[in-house]
Amino acid sequence: MTPDEFKKLGYQLVDWVSEYLTKVGDYPVCSSLQPGEIKEKLPAQPPIKAESMADIFQDFEKVIFPGMTHWQHPGWFAYFPANNSPPSILAELLTAGLGAQCMIWKTSPAAAELEEVVCDWLRQMLVLPKGFVGVIQDTASTSTLVALLTAREKATAFQSNIRGMKEPLCVYASQEAHSSVEKDVKIAGYGKESLRYIPTDENYALIPELLEQAIEQDKKQGLTPACAVATLGTTSSGAVDPLEPIGKICQRHKIWLHVDAAYAGTAALLPEKRWILEGVEKVDSFVFNPHKWMLTNFDCSAYFVKDKEALIKTFEIHPEYLKTGVDAVVNNYRDWGIQLGRRFRALKLWFVIRTYGVEGIQALIRKHIALAQKFREWLEADSRFEILAPTHFSLVCFRLNDGRNEAALNELNRIFHDRINQSGQIFLTHTSLKGKYTLRLVVGSRTTEEKHVQQAWEIIRQAADALLGGGKS
Ligand SMILES: Cc1ncc(COP(=O)(O)O)c(C=O)c1O
Repeated sequence: MTPDEFKKLGYQLVDWVSEYLTKVGDYPVCSSLQPGEIKEKLPAQPPIKAESMADIFQDFEKVIFPGMTHWQHPGWFAYFPANNSPPSILAELLTAGLGAQCMIWKTSPAAAELEEVVCDWLRQMLVLPKGFVGVIQDTASTSTLVALLTAREKATAFQSNIRGMKEPLCVYASQEAHSSVEKDVKIAGYGKESLRYIPTDENYALIPELLEQAIEQDKKQGLTPACAVATLGTTSSGAVDPLEPIGKICQRHKIWLHVDAAYAGTAALLPEKRWILEGVEKVDSFVFNPHKWMLTNFDCSAYFVKDKEALIKTFEIHPEYLKTGVDAVVNNYRDWGIQLGRRFRALKLWFVIRTYGVEGIQALIRKHIALAQKFREWLEADSRFEILAPTHFSLVCFRLNDGRNEAALNELNRIFHDRINQSGQIFLTHTSLKGKYTLRLVVGSRTTEEKHVQQAWEIIRQAADALLGGGKS
């Protein structure tokens, strides 16, 4: 491709993306294709001869695009958001153009120093304690793995890295913790049997007294507690584990406390939501995902630690070919996590934070929370619905409940859920809360306005009408 061709096609693709972002709400949120339909349309062998970009792009539109799920759709109410934004997309374009591999300071000083600066901006935006230092990881799953590995090393005086794990170490998390905790416990060598699931209260938050009991029981049996994971904004219901009492327990027993705030951490940008961080000075590490609710393209997970030395001691490695003359005075982020090679992720955060300003991001988060609150009020006013969890952020958990038995209610709500998503205009996902089939509606797309939440309510009401008859307040 010549530079002129690149320029021409580049302009065309920017036009395409711009139009897509404007029109994304016109498409069905989810693709209706069946498994295998895309593969069937793709050649099984790679092309031997070069193909033109015109042909490639035509196939993108014809074959690939119909198989896309539209995460930036205003009717996206599923999982948690992964919202992007124009400044973030432009920064990703620059990152791709620069093509830098930012494993150490020397391989791109600007990437390393910008990462240091934007991580500290994020720390200030969330009002995390001074002394916490941040690093960008790919995902919250990786960040939690990094925390578990560091906790493992601290608990064994950094001997596990040398001799392997010689004794079982225990990890604690609530029954509502994200599945990545279990995955990470397995990968980090603790073993699934060493993960203690602590029961939760009526609001799905970890019960600190039961955490302490579990720790003491393990100690009595000669086992070594190493790490606890608290969640701010659980995936199923948005529950908030109380950091203050959990932090005291972990300090008393000298256990690493990691906080998974993947989705809800962004809410701490708002002074009225900062209560979720009460006790955060007692934690050892903290992760939240700007790639979820902070307008920054996937992937971008901000991981903070109090004891930077422990983190680096866990991961550092010094092969001759990576040594430079400035290693003593710079951050070489290859030693702050698992991977060696690193993308220049700080650039998109820098673009986003500067374009929106802290106030602009706060306004968007506040709007989403208010819209979720409004939706909750509509549900509350209709006696066919039951709300199943507190709404601390922008996630509302609900189901239909006409008094039939629990097994029948689960079946009813499964059918109800299918009907809602069949509309194609909105997409909701579900969970199970204490065995109850629960629909989740999360407001978090950058493009979602009140009219979209109203439309969602209409679709949901009509699905309820079809199954139970008209609404009663
Ligand atoms: C609470 C929580 N933790 C962790 C994750 C995993 O996030 P990631 O995809 O960044 O690994 C999620 C995903 O939704 C989550 O809700």
